Amino acid sequence: MAQQNTYLEVHWSDGVESRYPWLWLRDHAHDADTLHPVTQQRQLFTAAIDPAISAAAVATSGPAVEITWANESTPSVLPVDFLAQYRVPSTPTARLNRRPTLWDASLKSAPSVPYADIMASDDGLVAWLDAVAEYGFAIATDTPATAEATEALVRRASYVRETIFGGFWEFTADLSKADTAYTTLELRPHTDGTYSHDAPGLQMLHCLGFEGTGGESTMVDGFAIAEELRRNQPEHHQVLSSIAIPGQYIGDGSHLMAARPVLRHDHTGALVQVSFNNYDRAPLMLPVDEMEALYAALRAFDLLANEPARQWRHVLAPGEAMLFDNWRVLHGRAAYTGTRRMCGAYLNHEDFESLLRLAQRRHS
Ligand code: OGA
Ligand code: ZN
Repeated sequence: MAQQNTYLEVHWSDGVESRYPWLWLRDHAHDADTLHPVTQQRQLFTAAIDPAISAAAVATSGPAVEITWANESTPSVLPVDFLAQYRVPSTPTARLNRRPTLWDASLKSAPSVPYADIMASDDGLVAWLDAVAEYGFAIATDTPATAEATEALVRRASYVRETIFGGFWEFTADLSKADTAYTTLELRPHTDGTYSHDAPGLQMLHCLGFEGTGGESTMVDGFAIAEELRRNQPEHHQVLSSIAIPGQYIGDGSHLMAARPVLRHDHTGALVQVSFNNYDRAPLMLPVDEMEALYAALRAFDLLANEPARQWRHVLAPGEAMLFDNWRVLHGRAAYTGTRRMCGAYLNHEDFESLLRLAQRRHS
């Protein structure tokens, strides 16, 4: 360690050299007056700290570093582990450090975990959520075919999100809501909630009963489509990553609207969300050349989503409760005849991320 004018220099044993500004060290001190031990919230009025703060002495004592300040009476303590965590500067991001496994129709069987395991242990629950994080969807098998059991399963993960469709919902082809899902018509691959600023993160769908024909569910990996476009049709990828598409929901006493690109990236350039719903796309008018480019890009995306080689298809049977990442996977279903009773719910993406973060922390 070496004290420099404006920062503390640390040479780690593996050769990495880190620079911690003095103000950063004061701001991130771990004493109770700086960081509340229970809430983990910063108590410090950072703006009141002298921006030119500097150290009189720095010493390591056990697992922590103690800094005596030249111009403050109370020394600051920071765990070495904490310093190690931030030893390399990087662009802050809220993204989880996980790489999805992209898939297509060669994914024969869906990732699945028995309902009983999910209900009985945290390991079971984490296995289910991990599968959703990796593949974008996973089935809880042998789930009792009742709304009550399905709701309990959903609530095992998180509280349910309220939307225009209610909280936990049941639906059949009765047009009780102004949505194609409430008919027997085909639903081509789409994501839900393109009309919502915060589209539902996860969706649960469970078929409680089906007597009829058709009704096959279709799942498509939207991140795999994005990757295909990025590699082989970069001009379409660019358009879908930049032009915001408005979505709308009109009916049931609502007129919801939101707009975002089909491929939404975060500030580091990482893909975080796919939004595609041709049913709910609101009218839009751009200059002629942009309009052409947009239609070409939407066509390319939709044709890929409808390629059988990309689709996992399966008639969901009662007992197969499917949870999927609505920010990644597109879902659809074939037209059907007869009666089909579905139930399900939406969960927020941030709560899913929170669960994965907690599981990761428990694991390490
Ligand atoms: C939906 C939907 C598919 C199905 O409700 O959003 O797409 O299988 N349903 O009914
Ligand atoms: Zn849908």
